Amino acid sequence: MSKNRLEHLAIIMDGNGRWAKKRGLNRTKGHEAGAEVVRDITKFCALHDDIKTLTLYAFSTENWKRPQMEVNFLMKLIKRYLKKELPLYMENNIKFDTIGDLSSFSKDLIDEINRVKEATKNNSALTQILALNYGAQDEIVRAVNRVLKDNKEVTIENISNALDTPYSSIDLLIRTSGEVRVSNFLLWQIAYSEFYFTKTLWPDFTSKELEEIIQNYKNRERRFGGI
Ligand code: IPE
Ligand code: IPE
Ligand code: MG
Repeated sequence: MSKNRLEHLAIIMDGNGRWAKKRGLNRTKGHEAGAEVVRDITKFCALHDDIKTLTLYAFSTENWKRPQMEVNFLMKLIKRYLKKELPLYMENNIKFDTIGDLSSFSKDLIDEINRVKEATKNNSALTQILALNYGAQDEIVRAVNRVLKDNKEVTIENISNALDTPYSSIDLLIRTSGEVRVSNFLLWQIAYSEFYFTKTLWPDFTSKELEEIIQNYKNRERRFGGI
């Protein structure tokens, strides 16, 4: 049986709203509970020997369609999360980065994002990448435009290098909440990813379940087109 390495893990953190609804709570409570889980899972990944990069889908280019109240709440929550978690990044040697088009965010939020990026830039146990105002189609279009602007040839390598962050391709993509779709996440980087869909709602997701999923992944046979 093959023992796959898991260098880059990506997660579509879905189900916050349904988690809250089930408890008769406002959807915002689900997002708050979800942010707590982000901390636990990030810490777990920082301590994990193999995992070097963790990419988390936090806000999509389509999520602006949500009621203004919820969008505002999410913006505030991201800012609050970053402020609060800087010690977590420092104590666990975690570098923080983002993918997505930050230009639509408030100056306040952009400043906070840049502050945490700058403070953590030399950390090396794990890179946690938050996908913020992220859409894979948007990222690919921006990358191709960058290649053309630099008068380079459109090649797989040049497009890969022009993506928001030239991080490695995704080994394992997990989506919580039972939805079996990709929702415009990392379309380029998942060309040969393994997928895992769990019914668990994101606020109920635990490092124990993650460990089980990693075990499942390790025992899969990845062929990359070969035999
Ligand atoms: C995921 O949870 C978090 C974001 C998209 C910001 P949802 O808010 O999509 O939760 P459900 O899917 O409505 O339950
Ligand atoms: C995907 O979840 C985006 C994030 C988790 C940030 P959505 O809840 O927005 O996706 P759909 O609308 O169910 O496809
Ligand atoms: Mg959802």
